[in-house]
Formats: sequence, structure tokens, C-alpha cells
Amino acid sequence: MSDKTRRDFLKQTSTTALAAGILGGLQSGAFAAGSDTIRVGLVGCGGRGSGAARQALSTEGNVQLVAVGDAFVESVDASLTALKKAFETKPERVAVDDDHKFVGLDAYRKVIDSDVDLVILATPPGFRPTHFEYAVEKGRHVFMEKPVAVDAPGVRQVLAAAQKAKAQQLKVGVGLQRRHQNCYLDIVPRIHDGAIGDITALRVYWNSGGVWEPRRARDQVRSELEYQVWSWYYYNWLSGDHICEQHIHNLDVGLWLKQQLPVKARGMGGREVRADKRYGEIFDHHAVEYFFADGTVMSSTCSHMANCYSDVSEHAIGTKGTVDLNSNSSPKDNRITPFSGEAFVYRGENPDPYQVEHDTLFAAIRNGETYDEAESGALSTMASVLGRMCTYSGKEISWDEALNHGARVTPDNMADLAWDSAPPTVPDVDGAYPVPVPGLTRVLA
Ligand SMILES: NC(=O)c1ccc[n+]([C@@H]2O[C@H](COP(=O)([O-])OP(=O)(O)OC[C@H]3O[C@@H](n4cnc5c(N)ncnc54)[C@H](O)[C@@H]3O)[C@@H](O)[C@H]2O)c1
Repeated sequence: MSDKTRRDFLKQTSTTALAAGILGGLQSGAFAAGSDTIRVGLVGCGGRGSGAARQALSTEGNVQLVAVGDAFVESVDASLTALKKAFETKPERVAVDDDHKFVGLDAYRKVIDSDVDLVILATPPGFRPTHFEYAVEKGRHVFMEKPVAVDAPGVRQVLAAAQKAKAQQLKVGVGLQRRHQNCYLDIVPRIHDGAIGDITALRVYWNSGGVWEPRRARDQVRSELEYQVWSWYYYNWLSGDHICEQHIHNLDVGLWLKQQLPVKARGMGGREVRADKRYGEIFDHHAVEYFFADGTVMSSTCSHMANCYSDVSEHAIGTKGTVDLNSNSSPKDNRITPFSGEAFVYRGENPDPYQVEHDTLFAAIRNGETYDEAESGALSTMASVLGRMCTYSGKEISWDEALNHGARVTPDNMADLAWDSAPPTVPDVDGAYPVPVPGLTRVLA
């Protein structure tokens, strides 16, 4: 089958299977039987991108990695070496020839323009809206890592592209893997069915020791922009700060439990222990209260502070009991405790949710099922952006104000960024970056 015929077939089978599924409750046999190959492209060959590629290539049926791209050649080489080793017994799965290894800030276009059915987007999240929009424009299925943006204009861009993806029946997965983890999949529906009554308060946390150290010295790079891209975590326009980059997981679970969006938020934060200038501009702690229309408050804290307590978990209190959730899947930490009666403790199996999220996405492509996580991923991203807007500005901000008027933190020209482009923040003569100051920093456009 030629590449074009194969892709048309993939599209057609999806449409036909969808119609069959809706009309007759049947699923298409063609892809379930693995009679065709899903060709995958990878944009962002770092830790998670390489992991996502491994999981994509471990799904059922024929699947091949055929194109990869990264800002830096080192990442492309390291990722392909690791993937080839992981698939030593199935070498046909890693089928990237030299013409399909792309390096540079425009690598995303070259990967997406290659003959791929699905693209994995796993760069720093500042680039995600641009990459997702382009993938949808080119009719590709997408697995994209969370967060899906770092600011309100980016969230709006993703929401608009999500509508276009839906109209084309493209399948979109977002790397909020708790949504595919058994302890959550078992417990959250019980809460929706009233196991703790009406939720009146939530607590969500990502308090940990932090992440990797900055990766390059100034004399190892071509430009200020390259310096920041290497150590992207420490720059708001690239990572969204750790409240977006990590704590989104817990905020997402809170919104999933509550089944509502907050109407406003307020909070405080700063950088206390990770304050050295080499750590860029982001905070090391944020504490936010999210208010819902019915008076429910979701209290959220996230910190990157070594030698302090650690807690990465989600909790809710309802009119009839409490629920505790934790991605460690331990029975101790995943339970429903009614105010009267027996507790329910999750003791089920715990398959790797990173694998499950790919298994379900690829099965949806093969079976022509609807698979659409872009919108909910964008809304959870917005919750994390709203939290950061509150902690940076020190203001109480409504959801609508934040979504409609939140300031852009990325450069305007993300699609055409080059190594000599001006980054949105630059250091002073001593190498120190301006850090947001509550009460002074403006976050609305
Ligand atoms: N779901 C999860 O549990 C989970 C875990 C880790 C990371 N992530 C997410 O995955 C994404 C990547 O994180 P990571 O830990 O893999 O980071 P990483 O630094 O290991 O990898 C990022 C890669 O993107 C490359 N890159 C940077 N800008 C690029 C551009 N414009 N075009 C192409 N490549 C570019 C970098 O060179 C690097 O190789 C982030 O959004 C992060 O939040 C999710």
C-alpha cells in the first residue's frame, strides 16, 4: 500500500468505523487486527518525548517511529540510541532514516510534514500551542504532553485548534496520565456517583525537592535564547513555572473530581531557597485558593524546596465523607472514607498509566473511536496559568478575566523563532533575571 493510500485508508477507516460504532455499536476490525501501520513522528526528544515514543511503539499492532526532531542534535542522537536499544528485538519499529532526523527550532514543521499519522509533542510547553496548531492543520493525530500552553493566549490557541481537530475526527491525547491510572479510574466515578455527597472543599499538592539543574553555561551557547531553551524549566515563557509544568496534574484531578471550573482565584508565592540567578525567573513556591460558584474552595500548594516535606496528592471533603488520591497507587493513600460506614480502599492492579494512555489513544485511532483530551487538557492548563497569574501579581483574578485577558508571556513569533531571536526576558549585567513581584507585576493584557 502506498503511503498516501495508507493514510487515506487510515482516515477512511476511522470515519467508517466511527459511523459503524455510533450506528451499530460495532468497532472496525481493520486496525484492531493490526493490518496497517501507524507511523509516528516525535517532536522533542528529551526524557518524556523518548518515553512517550517507547510507549507508542509498545502499543498493539504495527507501529513505527519514522521521523524525529529536536532543537539540539544531542537529544536526537541520545533518544534514537536509547529507542534502538529498547527495541533491539523489534528493530523495524525504530525506522528513522537520516533524512528524517531534524534539528533546530523549525524541526517541528519538518517532522509534522513527514509522512506521519500521529505526532508526539514533547518539547517545553511554551512551544506547544504552535506545534499543536500546525499538527492539526496538517491533519495529524496527536499525543501532546501537559501542560498544553503557558499563558492564556496559548490556551485559547489550543482550544481553537482542538475544535478543528474534533471536526476532522483527529484523535488527541494529553499527558495527564492520572486520567488513565486505575486508582483514579476506580475512585473518581464513585465520587461522581455521590460516595462522599457534594464536594465542599478540595486540597491538591505538588510539594517536592525540585527538578534538574540548569544545563549549559553561557560560554557553551550561541545566544541568550539558546541558553534559556537548554534550561527551559527556569523561564516562565518556556515552562509556565512549576505550578503549570508539574502541579497541573493535581489541579487537573481537583477539577475532574469537582466537575466544574473555578470562578476566581487568589494566592501568594515567591522564591525563597532556589533564588540564585542561575535559576532564571520562576518561583519556588505557590499557594493558591480556587473558588467555585457554589462556594467550594480548592486549596493548592506547590513547592520546589529540598529538605522539606514532600506531598504530591489530591483530596476532597464532601457532605458525606472524604476522598484521598495519590498516583503512588498505595491502598494507604487511595481511599474513600465516609463519615459513617466502611471505608473503600483501592487495592486493584496498577498498570503503568503512561503505557495505558498510549494504548487507549492508539486503539482509538485503529478503531475509529472518538478520543479528545485537548479541551480538558487546555482547561486544566488554564487553571494552572490562573494560579500563576495570581501568585505573580498578588491580585484576585476571575477565570473569565484570566482566560480572555491574560497577558502573553511567550514571544509573538513562536512559529518562526530563531536562535538569534530576542527572548521575552533578559538578564542584567550580573546575569540576574527580573523576578515577578506581587503587587507590582502585571499579568493582564
Ligand atoms: N506527564 C508527565 O508525567 C510528564 C513527565 C515529564 C515531563 N512531562 C512534560 O513533557 C514535556 C517535556 O519534558 P521533558 O522532561 O521531556 O524535558 P526535556 O528537557 O528532557 O526534553 C525536552 C526536549 O525538547 C527539546 N526542545 C526544546 N525546544 C524545542 C523546540 N522548539 N523544538 C524541538 N525540540 C525542542 C529539548 O532540546 C529537549 O530535548 C514538558 O511539557 C513536561 O511538562 C510530562
